[in-house]
Amino acid sequence: MAVQRTFSIIKPDATRRNLTGKINSMIEAAGLRIVAQKRVKWSEDQAKEFYAVHKERPFYMDLVNFMTSGPVVVQVLEGEDAVAAYRTVMGATNPADADAGTIRKECAESIEANSVHGSDSVENAAIEIGQNFSEAEIVG
Ligand code: CMP
Repeated sequence: MAVQRTFSIIKPDATRRNLTGKINSMIEAAGLRIVAQKRVKWSEDQAKEFYAVHKERPFYMDLVNFMTSGPVVVQVLEGEDAVAAYRTVMGATNPADADAGTIRKECAESIEANSVHGSDSVENAAIEIGQNFSEAEIVG
């Protein structure tokens, strides 16, 4: 195992319900360190670029509309095996399938409004972090 960084988003369904602190507590309890964080409102272009990999999916425009419907909190998380560790803490994409004690089981409303995003690989984490933060904003 190695120390890695992963990219996280606390999504509009969670910021709307004031769950940023609860989710951050669950992240920190899992041993991950929040080394960068900002609350922002994404433009349609930012959301489209971030989710470009899904642009052929039927849910793409709904996802873009949802992700621009309110503030998001973008984060860089650091820790041992951070990519996999965060995916474990998040739980399955569909909250109906998520394990007890995971963020999505405890917080998510639906497969779309699923409270959090986390990178699926170290390579994608680097890309997603680069889209959202400068190196100077990341303080380990
Ligand atoms: P996320 O981890 O941010 O990556 C892509 C997002 O698309 C996913 O979380 C969900 O919010 C959303 N998503 C995935 N599958 C579906 C689906 N079948 N219907 C609606 N939204 C989906």
